[in-house]
Amino acid sequence: MNYHTPVLINAVLEILDPAPGKKYIDATLGGGGHTTEILKREAKVLGLDRDQEAVDHVSKYQVSSIKKGILTVVKANFNQIEEIAKEKGFGQADGVLFDLGVSSHQLDKAERGFSFQKEGALDMRMDRDLPILASDIINNFEERRIDEIIQTYGQEKFSRSIARAINIARQIKPIETTTKLTEIIQEVYRKKNQKQKLNPATRTFQALRIVVNSEILNLEESMPQTTKILKKGGRLVAISYHSLEDREVKRFFKTSQNLRVLTKKPIGPQPSEIMQNPRSRSAKLRAAEKL
Ligand SMILES: C[S@@+](CC[C@H](N)C(=O)[O-])C[C@H]1O[C@@H](n2cnc3c(N)ncnc32)[C@H](O)[C@@H]1O
Repeated sequence: MNYHTPVLINAVLEILDPAPGKKYIDATLGGGGHTTEILKREAKVLGLDRDQEAVDHVSKYQVSSIKKGILTVVKANFNQIEEIAKEKGFGQADGVLFDLGVSSHQLDKAERGFSFQKEGALDMRMDRDLPILASDIINNFEERRIDEIIQTYGQEKFSRSIARAINIARQIKPIETTTKLTEIIQEVYRKKNQKQKLNPATRTFQALRIVVNSEILNLEESMPQTTKILKKGGRLVAISYHSLEDREVKRFFKTSQNLRVLTKKPIGPQPSEIMQNPRSRSAKLRAAEKL
């Protein structure tokens, strides 16, 4: 199975403009799709991912690039980007790329627990060393806190009813699987007679994933670090997949004194890309240049 199809690849390459000798940091290596294209243009890449599976996957098929010294791969959270970049000789980078969220591989692997379409344990950790799983939140957090999480990070209008239904269900038996949680959410929607285009579990799953992986916090911590490791004229590209991420990127771009925004409006996929890769549909790319 394909590990991950890189999104908005033409826009990324156009903005980053990789060329021989230039240095790039791919903060979210995933399947290495963007990195591979940058390497093809004979630039050097430092790739980070907090998921060991992504690191192993790329290290395996890019073994010759690693041997040649044009690719360095590190298992790390991108909230350590400044320190790692400096340590690995990327303290004056030509570009930094964040392609946020989860990879298709993470979504497709049932046991990772990211997908409501596949039965698996309620895990959702991108980094398996993280201490809290989605099932810990669902089974141990107070109902009020679960409501807050689903409302804040899922923007779910029925957060209160969902948190209530979770609390009732877990008193009978702990909620351990993605499908059990999905059933509970679907039942809430059925009772409210709500039909909708998206699977009703979408927002709750998004919220849990964001909290388990501290996604917004990591973004807030890492963005300011990037301005310290980009050289003058170096470019920062961030692709986000939900409004909370995009809001954070936009806020950072607006408030950073060291950046010139290159994208007045975010760049999204063309209909042809959405046709080929439906997971690209919510992608929003924003880019800025270091002053
Ligand atoms: C959308 S995928 C990237 C796909 C990649 N651009 C490609 O073309 O194959 C996002 C990746 O970012 C990783 N990730 C998410 N948050 C991270 C963080 N805070 N630090 C490091 N990696 C992170 C995930 O584990 C996942 O592998």
